[in-house]
Amino acid sequence: MILVRNTGPLSGAIEIQGSKNAVLPMMAAALLAEGTTIFTNVPRIQDVFCMMGILQFIGCKCSFVGNTLTIDASVIDRARIPEHYVTAMRSSVMMLGALLVRKKEALTRYPGGCLIGSRPIDLHIKALTCLGAEITEEKGWIRARTEGLTGGEISFPYPSVGATENALLAAVLSRGITRIEGAAKEPEIEELCLLLNQMGAKIQGAGTGSLTVTGVKRLFGVTRRVAGDRIVAGTYLAAVMARGGKVLLKGINPKHLLSVLETFSRSGAVFHMGEDQIEVVMEGCPRGFDIVTGPYPEFPTDLQSPAMAVMAAARGDSRIKETVFESRFATAGELLKLGARIEIDGRNARIFGAAGKFPLKGAELEARDLRGGAAAVIGGMAAEGETKITGCRYIRRGYEDICRDLKALGASIEDRKP
Ligand code: UD1
Repeated sequence: MILVRNTGPLSGAIEIQGSKNAVLPMMAAALLAEGTTIFTNVPRIQDVFCMMGILQFIGCKCSFVGNTLTIDASVIDRARIPEHYVTAMRSSVMMLGALLVRKKEALTRYPGGCLIGSRPIDLHIKALTCLGAEITEEKGWIRARTEGLTGGEISFPYPSVGATENALLAAVLSRGITRIEGAAKEPEIEELCLLLNQMGAKIQGAGTGSLTVTGVKRLFGVTRRVAGDRIVAGTYLAAVMARGGKVLLKGINPKHLLSVLETFSRSGAVFHMGEDQIEVVMEGCPRGFDIVTGPYPEFPTDLQSPAMAVMAAARGDSRIKETVFESRFATAGELLKLGARIEIDGRNARIFGAAGKFPLKGAELEARDLRGGAAAVIGGMAAEGETKITGCRYIRRGYEDICRDLKALGASIEDRKP
């Protein structure tokens, strides 16, 4: 349980943890290497431990010391991903492509993760089928098989992050050339391409919607640093906007947050960008602002919930249009308990800013998903009195230690572990 009290303006500097969404597909990529792959700046979060559990189950030897993760994938003796890992983390679906390459077979359940929308995997299946996989479904299990993958033409009708990553992981060791059109352009995909190329792959077009992969015979283990987490950085920017103050976030590429900074600046926040850091200055109460989520480089859906918490504490009204996931407004239900005024209509939310010294009042909230949990923390920081947040296992899926970080900036917050 997290206990958070109303907090004055935040100040200080913190280092941002490594990126969850970058490291998970990188861990799947380690399966493709003959030898040992070492990642540094790896966040000690639940999703990384879960992915490590899968890698160990199928035969990898892993060691995770401090923030350095070593994966020896010399021997892979299983092609099945155990059900409990799949239920815990949707990203386990990313193992399909890599396992197919290594074992010519992969077996998994339909993926789990945060309860935000139906989240089908048709685009993953489409991509792997284009490369010659045969995929069947039986009683909730998905079995993929191949005699050997060959290059193909993949065209995504929507730029799915996970499906683009799966396609890349399957294509790099396929025979011939693969073209991926309509690929997602998230920085984490560019990171994956850079890693794979460092391992010996031939991918052109990294960071664009058109990727060309020329299959190679083998990949080699390398050492690579995981980039800073732009979503964690965005969460802490939102915290400063809700409470005011002046904070420096280090270890993050500000270019990956351009749409966020542009949108957030309409609240009155001022940002100063350095090469690998961002300073945020917020004087007084934020003004209401509008966001429309979308695939990168648009405003990320993962920061929609933290932004909603800022809006609840703002002066003036705000609007959110969620275009990526159909039911990602669970956070609204929790913010209402703090006294926020929010109306939901399908994919649209209207937040009536409650200006005044303490528009929000502390309450007992429940983290219902990862980013919603972080939003509850921000709401609690902006509310009068004390807020208790349960369901913190969701927060630990993606934040190494949200209490440590916010405390370092002056927040009154503690993690009461059971
Ligand atoms: C990734 C991120 C997640 C982020 C999301 C969108 C990781 C580990 N997770 O998730 O934090 O919120 O991108 O930026 O990187 N879709 C389909 N069919 C598919 C796949 C996806 O219809 O086969 C739909 C989804 O239901 C959703 C949309 O496409 O509506 C985006 O999903 P996708 O980009 O695949 O997100 P994830 O890779 O799951």
